[in-house]
Amino acid sequence: MYEIDANEFCIIIKLKINGWPSASRGTLDDIAFRINLGKQMEIVIKELSVDHYDQLLVGWKSLPGSAIGIGDDYDSIKKYLNRNRGLSYGAFYNSKLIGAILADHDGRRGKLNHLYVLEEYRKNKIATRLVEKSITALKSQGIKRIWILIHNTNIDAIKFWESIGFKEVEILKIWGKNI
Ligand SMILES: CC(C)(COP(=O)(O)OP(=O)(O)OC[C@H]1O[C@@H](n2cnc3c(N)ncnc32)[C@H](O)[C@@H]1OP(=O)(O)O)[C@@H](O)C(=O)NCCC(=O)NCCS
Repeated sequence: MYEIDANEFCIIIKLKINGWPSASRGTLDDIAFRINLGKQMEIVIKELSVDHYDQLLVGWKSLPGSAIGIGDDYDSIKKYLNRNRGLSYGAFYNSKLIGAILADHDGRRGKLNHLYVLEEYRKNKIATRLVEKSITALKSQGIKRIWILIHNTNIDAIKFWESIGFKEVEILKIWGKNI
């Protein structure tokens, strides 16, 4: 459980949803807030659609060690976003995607995946906002527990997730198999 004091770092403006690709998208309002990187910049958080795939790929490819794996091709992401509507979000400066999070659930547990913020925009609470948005959406669908996977050498990510209240489940190891 964590709470964000919006006034600490930004102005929050609620925006009306318009222009969503289909009527069933956009169950939550878009959020806009300002960051200062030498100039005031308005960042908007809104639901991801497959139209953002090319920009997502640029973001994922910019990360050290490839964040792209099996199931990250265009068709798989399209299927993923359609199956998990209202849960995955992007942070946009004008129309540029500067960060994103994918989220899904199986009816019991939620999962957050592929969170990133482009390097030049980091430490402005953009990831915090993205996670908050997906968690709010997951909660609205009845989910009460979330899992994330973190590479154990990714110290920045570990510090980030700890800062927003996530804790390591020490008794678990992740096992996997390609099928
Ligand atoms: C991890 C990541 C998403 C954080 O994005 P961000 O927008 O910079 O994060 P926030 O600004 O919301 O950070 C919130 C808090 O997390 C902690 N934190 C974030 N990045 C940190 C870092 N590099 N070192 C230490 N603490 C950090 C801080 O406590 C920070 O609060 P503060 O700025 O007031 O000190 C970003 O560094 C990233 O994209 N990394 C590469 C991709 C990745 O590792 N993704 C996670 C996969 S599990």
